[in-house]
Amino acid sequence: MGQDGHEALSPQIAKLIDRLPKVELHVHLEGTLEPELAFRLARRNGVRLPFRSVREMRAAYDFSDLQSFLDVYYAACAALVTREDFRELTAAYLDRAHADRVRHVEPFFDPQTHTERGIPMGDVIGGILDGLAEGEKRYGITSGLILSFLRHLPPESADATLAEAEPWLDKLVAVGLDSSERGFPPEPFAGTFARARTGGLRAVAHAGEEGEAQLVARTLDALQVSRIDHGVRAADDITVMRRLAESGVVLTACPNSNVRLRVLASMDQSPVKKLLDAGVAVTINSDDPAYFGGYIGANYRAVAAALDLDADDLVRLAANAIDGSFAPDNRKLELHSELAIASAG
Ligand code: ADE
Ligand code: ZN
Repeated sequence: MGQDGHEALSPQIAKLIDRLPKVELHVHLEGTLEPELAFRLARRNGVRLPFRSVREMRAAYDFSDLQSFLDVYYAACAALVTREDFRELTAAYLDRAHADRVRHVEPFFDPQTHTERGIPMGDVIGGILDGLAEGEKRYGITSGLILSFLRHLPPESADATLAEAEPWLDKLVAVGLDSSERGFPPEPFAGTFARARTGGLRAVAHAGEEGEAQLVARTLDALQVSRIDHGVRAADDITVMRRLAESGVVLTACPNSNVRLRVLASMDQSPVKKLLDAGVAVTINSDDPAYFGGYIGANYRAVAAALDLDADDLVRLAANAIDGSFAPDNRKLELHSELAIASAG
C-alpha cells in the first residue's frame, strides 16, 4: 500500500504527479478548515464547536452520504468569524496547495453560511481576497474566486446574496451552486444565474454527485454553466456523456470525496478514465480536503493507482484543468509551458 492507503504507484508515475503544475477548479475554502485551525479560531472568537477536541472532531468524519458530511461542515464554520479568520483559512489552504504544486486555483466560498450568522459580506470576501493576494505574492499561485449559492436555501436568498455581493463582483470570476443535491433541483436558480452572467460572471454548478445523470443535463439547460462540479453520474448515460464531450463542458471530479461520501463504493469504481476516454474534459480536484483525507496531490495519486492511469492520462487531466479554468489566455499559455516541461521529465 502507498502512503495514501491505496495500491502503490510506480515511482515514475508518483514523480510525474509530484511535478505536474496543478490547477484546482473544485475546492471549497470552508472545506479546507482543518480541526486544529477550527479549534484555534473558535477559542480566539469565544465560539463553542459541537466537538470537545480535535481528535473528537476528526473521529466524526465517518460519513454515510453528502448530508451527513454537510451537517459537520456547516457546524465547523461557526469558528470563522472575523476578516482575519477568512484570511488565515485561505492562507493555510494555499500553503498546502503550494506543497502540491498548485499554480492556479478557483476556490468556492459559501457566503450564506456566514452572512446568515451575521458576518458582514465584506469581511468574508475581504479576508479571502487578502489571503489569495498573499498566496500570489508568496508562491505565484494565481486565482479566481467563485461565490457559491446554497441550493437548500430559497432562490430569493441566492438573489439577495448576489445583490449584497455587488460591490465585489469585479473581484469574482464566477457563481456556483452547491449543498444538498437531492430534492433541490437547479431550475429555481435560473434567474439568479442569468443575472450573474449578465453582470459579467461565469457560471458553474454542482450536479450529478448524488443526483442522476439527467440532473447534469438539466443543469446545463437551466443554468448555462461552463463547468459541472462532480458530474461523475454523467458516465451512467451515454447521451449525457456525449453532450459533455461535444460541448467541451468541463467536469471537476473529486475522487476522494466520492469515496468518502459513498457516491462510489470504492476508488476503482471511479468513472474518470471512462470519461477521459469518451473525450469529456474531466479534471481532478479535492472538494473538501480537510474532511476527505487529502489535498489535490492525494486525489491524483489515489485515482491514478486505482485506475492504473498512465502518463498521458495524467498530463491530459492536468491540461484539461488549465483549459477549463477562467484564467486569462496569457496565464493559460504559461501554465501549458510549465506542463510541457513537467511532462518532458
Ligand atoms: N459543499 C461542500 N462540499 C460539497 C459537496 N461535495 N457537494 C455539495 N455541496 C458541497
Ligand atoms: Zn464541491
